[in-house]
Amino acid sequence: MSLLLIAPNRDMNPLKEALLEVDSSLDVELWPKVEKRERVNFAVSWKHPKNGLGDYPNLKAVSSLGAGVNHLLEDKNIPETVKLCRVITTSLQSQMADYVMNAITNYRLHTFLYHDQKKVGEWQVYESIQKQDCTVGIMGLGEMGKTTAQFLAENEYAVNGWSNSKKHINGVTSFSGKDELNDFLSSSNILVCLLPLTEVTEGILDLGTFKTLKTPAYLINVGRGGHLVEEDLIYALDTNTLAGACLDVFEKEPLPANHVFWNRPNIMITPHVASITPAKEAAAIIVENYKRALSGMDLINEVSREKGY
Ligand code: GLV
Repeated sequence: MSLLLIAPNRDMNPLKEALLEVDSSLDVELWPKVEKRERVNFAVSWKHPKNGLGDYPNLKAVSSLGAGVNHLLEDKNIPETVKLCRVITTSLQSQMADYVMNAITNYRLHTFLYHDQKKVGEWQVYESIQKQDCTVGIMGLGEMGKTTAQFLAENEYAVNGWSNSKKHINGVTSFSGKDELNDFLSSSNILVCLLPLTEVTEGILDLGTFKTLKTPAYLINVGRGGHLVEEDLIYALDTNTLAGACLDVFEKEPLPANHVFWNRPNIMITPHVASITPAKEAAAIIVENYKRALSGMDLINEVSREKGY
């Protein structure tokens, strides 16, 4: 019996160590050197190679190392009988809330304009955008969205939330379903995408969405690159439909060096770092789910293939 860690662009040694600290009897394999594929019962993946989890005949479950699971759902080689789950920890949630708050504050206070001015020794004052002129609209009130919405509301932001079903979160106005999307958008001017990427949500950040927002409008995408129609963002910036954007996720990661986004002063770019699972916290959940998978129990944060999260 073994547990496989498979994440091509991430050092998984700290997670391996943390797992062994939780249970020193574990047999942990680090991809790509997998000694015995038939011994692997459980895999932990962060963006594993496309369709790369089909060749493990005794696989019982696969866990995403983060909150997003589209890299698991896109693997057509993982048999339907293999359970899927994800790791969500309190610090993953609070990192996201911090990231979004920081992005909003930077936008309101024009931090990046001043950063650019410093390079050329320029002293020009811009009027800050006041908190009371901002209504933050959070798309997706799952584990990450809920915490972020709550945090912003506690910090005196007006907050709208949009999700499949109505949610009761203190200080957050809840909108649900397709029918209420327009009302949600037209009463928000800082749009934060924290949706899972599914067939329904793919491309949801398009020109129609941007045009419906209250102005001046700003976009923060911390969901997935596939949520955003990239050419619509450029058009929206060129036509002042959006004042700017902060992007942490991209259709293609790393974002290619010649991508048009790099040269846009009003697009803030971070390399998919909004919220990163701490090894120690993840290890406890992974070991518990490994044990549950071996004994056929339901998993913590089990993912519904049907819903896509
Ligand atoms: C980060 O993108 C995650 O899915 O946890």
